[in-house]
Amino acid sequence: MHSAVDAERSSSRAAATAPARVAVAGATGYTGQELLRILSRHPAVTVTAAMSSGTSAARKLPALARLWAGDITPLSVDSLRQAEVVFLALPDAAAAELGPTLVDAGVRVIDLSGAFRLTEATARARWYPETYRVPEHTVYGLTELARPAVAGARLVANPGCYPTATLLALSPIAAAGLLAPDVDVIVDAKSGVSGAGKTPSERTHFSEVHGSMGAYGVFGHRHGAEIEQGVASATGAATVVNFVPHLVPLDRGILATIYVRLTPGTTEDTLADVFQQAYLSAPFVRLVGSTLPEIKHVAHTNFCDIGWRVDASGRAVLVSVIDNLLKGASGQAVQNLNVMLGIDERTGLW
Ligand SMILES: NC(=O)c1ccc[n+]([C@@H]2O[C@H](COP(=O)([O-])OP(=O)(O)OC[C@H]3O[C@@H](n4cnc5c(N)ncnc54)[C@H](OP(=O)(O)O)[C@@H]3O)[C@@H](O)[C@H]2O)c1
Repeated sequence: MHSAVDAERSSSRAAATAPARVAVAGATGYTGQELLRILSRHPAVTVTAAMSSGTSAARKLPALARLWAGDITPLSVDSLRQAEVVFLALPDAAAAELGPTLVDAGVRVIDLSGAFRLTEATARARWYPETYRVPEHTVYGLTELARPAVAGARLVANPGCYPTATLLALSPIAAAGLLAPDVDVIVDAKSGVSGAGKTPSERTHFSEVHGSMGAYGVFGHRHGAEIEQGVASATGAATVVNFVPHLVPLDRGILATIYVRLTPGTTEDTLADVFQQAYLSAPFVRLVGSTLPEIKHVAHTNFCDIGWRVDASGRAVLVSVIDNLLKGASGQAVQNLNVMLGIDERTGLW
């Protein structure tokens, strides 16, 4: 259904029109470098600017040698305004500042930070206090669940990595009304260390992480609010989500194990039907059922693999895996770009 030949044809079609001018702010970071790597091979775009904070502007990016020949320049709003689409791969505060400015200047923005993800003002003020304004036509860009809105968006709030893995598994079940009422959802998630960005800290130092594993952010991680927002938008009602992230000694990848109780009579086959219906036209979602997916199956790809088990009493365990830097960040951002440009969403990613 989604063959490499189809993607190739689509890429050729994309290349036939004038390439879109795109720029990356935060190009020296983990997600920014992934963006440059993908965009340098993308047939429908040309990268007009790649910027960092300025302090490391003279830095070379050895991983991109022979893939991308441009220069890293200090952040310049004037240069960003020359692009049609700007990727913001910046800390929340810098993105909160730049997003509205660029949208006002007629530039379309894909923001990888959390600054514009929460729609409810009180939650946003708590988790992202730097966000002073959310531009009109801002869309939460979990691509598979928001294609029509993403296509017309001025600013796409690219979802967080944990919420992407979690909501792709949970939302179809929630939307189908299969979650038992008044039962908390539990999301127990593990992430590789690149999820914390390139600046090392005591927690993310190699000698702390290697050979260990720990929970963090219990009742205090902003992705919990984002997951609750996603489940609420699927069910139409508030649902409590107990989200506990863990840091594991991997460089990249997320595995979310989600514990739910289902309405009576729901079976593994019911979930299979719901997922197949939801992801009929979703090239990057692979449904693996009771096999259960692993991080290694999706690392360095834009896939999200989803598995599930249901017992006779209605308990269900969903397992969802992604690469945090691709489907959890830069890959999904390019997928959203493709939807915004009206081209095959696999372009540059397949
Ligand atoms: N890492 C992930 O898995 C992941 C997943 C989803 C979303 N995100 C989000 O994506 C964004 C980028 O994450 P990352 O992991 O790529 O971060 P990172 O590795 O720390 O890189 C940050 C980038 O932003 C630049 N920068 C920092 N402060 C700046 C400022 N005040 N003005 C302009 N540029 C500035 C840095 O430039 P210098 O090199 O000059 O410092 C660098 O290029 C964050 O908001 C993060 O929450 C990350």
